[in-house]
Amino acid sequence: GRLAAAVQAMPKTELHVHIEGTLEPGLALQFAARNDVELPWTSLDALSAQYEFTDLQSFLDLYYRLMGTLRHAQDFHDLMLSYLRRAAQDGVRHAEIFFDPQVHLANGIPYDTVLDGLHAGLREGEERYGVSGALILCIVRDLPLQDAERMLDLAVPRADEVLGIGLDSAEVGHPPKLFEHVFERAGDLGWHRVAHAGEEAGIDYMQQALDLLHVERIDHGAHALDDAAMMRRLAEERVPVTRCPLSNIRLHVVKDAEGLRIRDFLDAGVITTVNSDDPAYFGGYLTDNYLALVQAGCTLYDLARLGEMSIQASFLDQGRKAALL
Ligand code: HPA
Ligand code: ZN
Repeated sequence: GRLAAAVQAMPKTELHVHIEGTLEPGLALQFAARNDVELPWTSLDALSAQYEFTDLQSFLDLYYRLMGTLRHAQDFHDLMLSYLRRAAQDGVRHAEIFFDPQVHLANGIPYDTVLDGLHAGLREGEERYGVSGALILCIVRDLPLQDAERMLDLAVPRADEVLGIGLDSAEVGHPPKLFEHVFERAGDLGWHRVAHAGEEAGIDYMQQALDLLHVERIDHGAHALDDAAMMRRLAEERVPVTRCPLSNIRLHVVKDAEGLRIRDFLDAGVITTVNSDDPAYFGGYLTDNYLALVQAGCTLYDLARLGEMSIQASFLDQGRKAALL
């Protein structure tokens, strides 16, 4: 409709999307067939029936299972290209994209294969669709700490091909403070630092991410509203949050779109962005995530401000930001 067209036309970036979370069930079945990977579901109907989640872990179980269909650089290339094509339709001008190389390594896929494929996809996507992109290497927090340190060792020779470090996967019981040294090393590489915090865990995890990991953005931060001091801190220190409406709803982090309380974040002066997280799993790409906020009382003007903030909150240089705004 008209509102969707208006949202698509707004200049914006996407700052919280996992490339593996853009793996549509149909594409996963194609990769499984061409790579001889066995899945418990052989038809699109059978697989599509698996997308009802009760919490973060129930989603992660399917997400990691389907990740096993990615075997070759061409798979990563195809996946990236299909995301960028879809993002361009939503008016995304630039995307800072998470990937989970520790999981691919555990599946026997060399880091270079993953990085080669994703970069080939980024280059072709920029050429074809005019969307620029960069990669944020996510540490999988429920794997052993030594695994994270080894991941960083592997990433050092090609450090300039990565924009930043992130922290994802099962949050509760895997606090940010465990990764202080890993993030310090990432900072020494010149990488930007972000972390998922306050998705299922509380504001103590957000505090640790800020104080110990020195993150420049908080991914999710849904629980910041539990604490007025945290809201003030995000606003004063100008630390953006990357909110993911459909993800929070589908994983029962909030009850409904109202529960996201995006207007409260805006009113508190927090730099707030809208993102799709894992769009193949949560029922919508970026425009759908903006539109979900309309039900919760956001006006078209609010959506335009959120789009502008997504440009401000990106790691683009000032010149490129100014050109997009
Ligand atoms: N939360 C934590 N880890 C993740 C997510 C998420 O929403 N998506 C992919 N990995
Ligand atoms: Zn995420």
